[in-house]
Amino acid sequence: MRAQIVGTGRALPARVMTNADLEKMVATSDAWIVERTGVKERRILEAGRAASDLAAEAARNACRAAGVAPQELDCIIVSTVTPDMPFPACATLVQEKLGALGGAAFDLSAACAGFIYALSAGDAFVQKGQFRRVLVVGVEVLSRVTDWTDRNTCVLFGDGAGAVVLVPGAAASARPTGRGDSGILSTHLYADGSAWSHLCIPAGGSALPASASTVEARQHYVKMNGREIYKLAVRNMAQASLAALEANGVSPDAVDKVIPHQANLRIIEGVAQRCGLPLSKFYLNLADYGNTSSASIPIALDEALETGAVKTGDLVLMCALGAGVSWGSALVRL
Ligand code: ACO
Repeated sequence: MRAQIVGTGRALPARVMTNADLEKMVATSDAWIVERTGVKERRILEAGRAASDLAAEAARNACRAAGVAPQELDCIIVSTVTPDMPFPACATLVQEKLGALGGAAFDLSAACAGFIYALSAGDAFVQKGQFRRVLVVGVEVLSRVTDWTDRNTCVLFGDGAGAVVLVPGAAASARPTGRGDSGILSTHLYADGSAWSHLCIPAGGSALPASASTVEARQHYVKMNGREIYKLAVRNMAQASLAALEANGVSPDAVDKVIPHQANLRIIEGVAQRCGLPLSKFYLNLADYGNTSSASIPIALDEALETGAVKTGDLVLMCALGAGVSWGSALVRL
């Protein structure tokens, strides 16, 4: 049985960092950032709060929208590359915060493609009948791993969380679609590990454990080859999107909305062009939040449902690429 998204939620820190704020920190300008990325401002999580706090807030909102009590969740999947700590899994901390003890809880690491990977895993659990109420969260606190002296990366990222609740189609009473074909129609997942070095945090793991010298060399921050990632993102997000359409026998015209990973406006324009989809079909909020990695799609989905940019019954295409590189797509009838 197909999994259906029956509730969505998001959580964004209150603190706004604008491009003007960044102009005071590094040699950059609002004009450069807007022209090259489309980002105008991003949210930064306050000290004392961590990924699990944002994730739990988004999760509560998603559960409320779904009409599912957190205690009814039997599986929590958290996609993140910025968990509270290396272990235990951020998902177990979220589980405790929700008071949803006893079910399965684990993290999944596929960087900016993480939400698509996690959605695919949740869908598989539901289809197999192993779990009936699955929470899928994308959360990132990238501000904690951003080098605020590196203008190549610090202008791109932001913090946030988004969540969805999945249930088997027949139990999808909270948001009845009245359509036989609703739910997650397909997911396509890919990776090319030969490109891992274009985007990584070199230190702090078992390859290069934390030491005074790694901290001194600023190796605990995001390092990126922007040009290579740009090319890989356009090519592969388009390929995964077209694979989703082809697998479902759907033409680009039939897609109501595309919710892409909110990496960069120019990347999204390139994907639109390659897929033969007008940019007007793409939901965009990267100007407000920057790139929130695995949180960007569920945040955008929740916002789009709230504002009416997408509605029940719409055919929604999601696509993302991130570090690894890992990428994928999902085609969903809401
Ligand atoms: N402000 C001003 N100048 C800057 C800045 C900045 N913030 N950052 C870089 N520059 C300079 C560079 O130093 C360079 O100067 P130089 O010519 O004197 O050497 C010049 O601008 C051009 O740099 P490029 O790297 O060629 O700029 P480009 O047009 O490629 O844009 C960008 C850079 C925005 C990072 C682009 O490569 C990109 O979008 N890449 C994708 C990266 C991405 O989205 N990463 C997120 C994670 S992965 C994902 O989500 C898909």
